[in-house]
Amino acid sequence: MNLREFIATARDKNWLVVIEAEADPDLEMARILSKHDGKPVLFTRVKGYPYPVVAGICSDRAYFALALGVSPERLLFTLAEALAHPVSPPLVESAPCQEMVEAKADLTTLPILHHLPGDAGPYVTAGVLVVKDPDYGRNIAFHRLLRLDERRFAARLVEGRGTHTAWSKTPGDLEVAICLGAPIQVLIAAATSPSKGVDELSIAHALAPTPLVKCRTKDLEVPAECEFILEGRLTHQMVAEGPFIDLTETWDIVRQQPVIEIDCITHRRQPIYQALLPGKLEHKLLMGLPREPTIYAAVNEVCDCRNVYLTAGGMSWLHAVVQIAKRHPDDGPRAIEAAFRGHTSLKHVVVVDEDVDLFNPAAVEWAIATRFQANRDLVVLDDQPSSSLDPSATHVPGQKSRTSKMGLDATIPWLAPDGHWRSEEERAAFWRVEYES
Ligand SMILES: Cc1cc2nc3c(=O)[nH]c(=O)nc-3n(C[C@H](O)[C@H](O)[C@H](O)COP(=O)(O)O)c2cc1C
Repeated sequence: MNLREFIATARDKNWLVVIEAEADPDLEMARILSKHDGKPVLFTRVKGYPYPVVAGICSDRAYFALALGVSPERLLFTLAEALAHPVSPPLVESAPCQEMVEAKADLTTLPILHHLPGDAGPYVTAGVLVVKDPDYGRNIAFHRLLRLDERRFAARLVEGRGTHTAWSKTPGDLEVAICLGAPIQVLIAAATSPSKGVDELSIAHALAPTPLVKCRTKDLEVPAECEFILEGRLTHQMVAEGPFIDLTETWDIVRQQPVIEIDCITHRRQPIYQALLPGKLEHKLLMGLPREPTIYAAVNEVCDCRNVYLTAGGMSWLHAVVQIAKRHPDDGPRAIEAAFRGHTSLKHVVVVDEDVDLFNPAAVEWAIATRFQANRDLVVLDDQPSSSLDPSATHVPGQKSRTSKMGLDATIPWLAPDGHWRSEEERAAFWRVEYES
C-alpha cells in the first residue's frame, strides 16, 4: 500500500490526526508528533514549504496489518512467508515518483524536521537508501541523514550492515538513491536483514505489489510509487554526524561518517514529505517487527513455536516473549537459547505456554508469578555479544559490545519437585480459572 492510499484509509477509519494550523518543521512538528505518538499525523500547512508532511504511519501494528491486509496477530507469519519466498519485482517504464524532475537539486526545498534543540541539525529519518553491492547486488536500508547544506547529507552507516559493506569495498563514490515516502511494504523490507545477496525489494514485492523504475541519473532501481527520490553518490569524504536521539531515547554520540552528494531530485506531483519521530513507537516497531520472524524460525528448529512478540517496553528490540506449544520438559530452555540465536541483539526473553496472551504484559507477568522458579527456570548467559544500543552494555570502541543475557522459562513445569513428570491433569492445575462470559 502506498503512502497516499494509507493516508486515505487512515482518514476513513478516523485514525488520522490532521493538523491544519501552520506548523514549523524546525522543532515545532516534532513536539506535536510526540504528543500524538501511536497515531498517523498529517500537517497540511507547513511553515516555509509547499509540501504537506505526514508521520506516524508505522506507529502501530494495526497500521502494518491494514497495509498488508492481515490481522495484527498474523503479521509475523506474513513477514515470515515473504522472507522465505521473495518475489522479483517488475520494472516499469514510467512511474509516479518521476512525474516531476527538479531543475536544480536543492535539499533546502524539503521540509526536513529539526527534532530537538540538541540535534546536530535537520535530519531525514524515513529515508530508505538503495545501493548496489559489487558482489551481492541491491541492498535497501534506513539511514538517518543529517542535512549539511543544499546538496549534501552526512549518513549514519552502522558498520558491517549492507550499505556500509557496499560502501567500504567501493574505492570511489557509490551510487545511491534515497526514497522518501516509500510504500509501507518497502519500509518494512528496508528494516529486514536477510542473508547477503537476498534483495529486500523482492521481499517488499512478496508482501505487496512493488513495481520499480530506473533512476534518471543512476544505475539503480527504486519503488515507482515513492513520493520523492533523491539520486546521488555516497562519497568517502567524512564529516561529524550527531548528536542525535537513538532508539533507546538516549543521545547517540558524534562520529565521523560519510557524505552523500545529491545530483538529482524527482517527485510525484504535489508530493508528501514523510517524517518519522526517532526513538518513538514508529522507529521501535519498524526495527522490531522484522526480527520476530527470525526468532520464530530459530525457535521452531528446536520446538513448536506459536508466536513471538518484541515488547514495547524493551524498545521492540531487546525484550521478547516467545509462545510455545510445550511437548517436552526442556522445551523452555531450548526455546530461550534458540531465541538468542534468532535475534543476536536480544537481551531478555520470557517463554510462555499457548494459554498465555503474549501481547498482554500483565498476562506474561502472571505466567512468571505462577509458573516460574528462579533457581530452576532462569537461564543467565554471561559476556555475550550485545546490541550497540543498550547503554548498560560494555562498549569498547572498535569492538562488538558485550552484555549478559537472561531467559525466563515461564511455561508450566512438567517436572514436579519430587522428580516425577506431572500428568496432564496435574498440569491443568496451573491454568487460569475463567468466569463464564
Ligand atoms: C527507522 C529506522 C532507522 C534506522 N536508522 C539507521 C541508521 O541511521 N543507520 C544504519 O546503519 N541503520 C539504521 N537502521 C537499521 C537498518 O535499516 C537495518 O539495520 C537494516 O536492517 C539493515 O539491513 P542490511 O543489513 O540489509 O543493510 C534503521 C532502521 C530503522 C527501522
